[in-house]
Amino acid sequence: MKVKIGIIGCGLMGREVASALSRWFVLEDHPCHPELVAVCDPVASRRDWFRRVPTVRLFAADHHELLNSSEIDVVYVAVPHNLHEKIYLDVLNSGKDLFAEKPFGVDLRAAKNISSDATRLKRFVRCSSEFPFLPGGQRAFEIARGGGLGRLLEVRAGFLHSSDLDPNKPANWKRRNETCGEIGVMGDLGMHVVHIPFRLGWKPKTVYAQLQKFYPQRPGGAGGNVICDTWDNATLHTGVDVDGHEIPMRLEMKRLAPGETNTWFVEILGTEGGVKYSTKEPKTLWTFKRDREQCWLRTDLGFNGPFTTITGGIFEPGFPDCFLQMWASFLAERCGKLGGRFGCVTPDEATMSHQLFESALKSQIEKNAIQINWA
Ligand SMILES: NC(=O)c1ccc[n+]([C@@H]2O[C@H](COP(=O)([O-])OP(=O)(O)OC[C@H]3O[C@@H](n4cnc5c(N)ncnc54)[C@H](O)[C@@H]3O)[C@@H](O)[C@H]2O)c1
Repeated sequence: MKVKIGIIGCGLMGREVASALSRWFVLEDHPCHPELVAVCDPVASRRDWFRRVPTVRLFAADHHELLNSSEIDVVYVAVPHNLHEKIYLDVLNSGKDLFAEKPFGVDLRAAKNISSDATRLKRFVRCSSEFPFLPGGQRAFEIARGGGLGRLLEVRAGFLHSSDLDPNKPANWKRRNETCGEIGVMGDLGMHVVHIPFRLGWKPKTVYAQLQKFYPQRPGGAGGNVICDTWDNATLHTGVDVDGHEIPMRLEMKRLAPGETNTWFVEILGTEGGVKYSTKEPKTLWTFKRDREQCWLRTDLGFNGPFTTITGGIFEPGFPDCFLQMWASFLAERCGKLGGRFGCVTPDEATMSHQLFESALKSQIEKNAIQINWA
């Protein structure tokens, strides 16, 4: 099935999508054949980068021009968070399906609006979160779902960056509440952290948040300093019910984590076994089994995404690979061919993440653990 794709927002992530779609042929037997046909960005140089992609025919400065094209089936949007709600709703109202970048609106109110319009208009909508599609993320998920870990003791998950340790790193829209949202780093990194826990049904009952801000100003693009008022690091101590027992689940999202360039990790520990995976060792899965002696087993996973590719099974996976796998999952689910494989973040899960992050903001202000009412 041919699927015509348009991209709104031609920055870092818009270009990653062009990269993923341009090497679609590495997938074996995928039911869809996507083609990137249109891009939109108000900045001409951003649009012009896409002139190297031979299938792109429409270069729009305004997203309405792209949405007026009857040729496009699916729109991927990667713009600053304060623009999500308006542009996502315009996509849905234009009759097209939406692959939305996280955090799916600047706040909970926006996420609820997008989610309810998606339901009302019966559009297929999913939100971006690629790391669970790595072989290690998939195995950790399968092991936890399989129930062989015994009674769960605790869960830790996180996503860590370090480039903001440099006080001279220039500010961009992600450092300001107005454009990134009050939730700051939770909006930037949090969806990646909660995707697997939420999919396993682990909804926090309570959250105690420790949020930190570091450099209040950074060099601006046009010279001089600009205010940086977003939360930079977030540690959320949550409690989740698993099989009738409340266990601790610690979620970390950090822009200032020494030594970490883009480290996504998940650790799930139980009385009979445990599993740990981190992108720091992209092909390595650590598993624990309770036995006479205490030992963690290190397994080299190789290259086994949910969707088969031509890549040799012994090779190592990386960011472009899980991004491609996420798109393969999105388009397969859209045409009803996911076949039991792992799916992208749903609008409900994205809205849940906002509810958690809004409760975390409340916890930070009140210096208390907050009960989360999921109703
Ligand atoms: N999935 C991931 O791993 C990942 C990684 C980084 C960012 N993101 C998300 O992707 C989105 C974009 O982030 P980015 O890093 O690509 O940002 P970016 O700043 O690199 O790119 C944003 C682009 O949006 C354009 N833009 C601004 N207003 C626009 C409008 N009205 N219409 C069309 N384009 C407009 C800008 O000119 C810019 O080119 C955010 O939601 C962010 O959270 C996801």
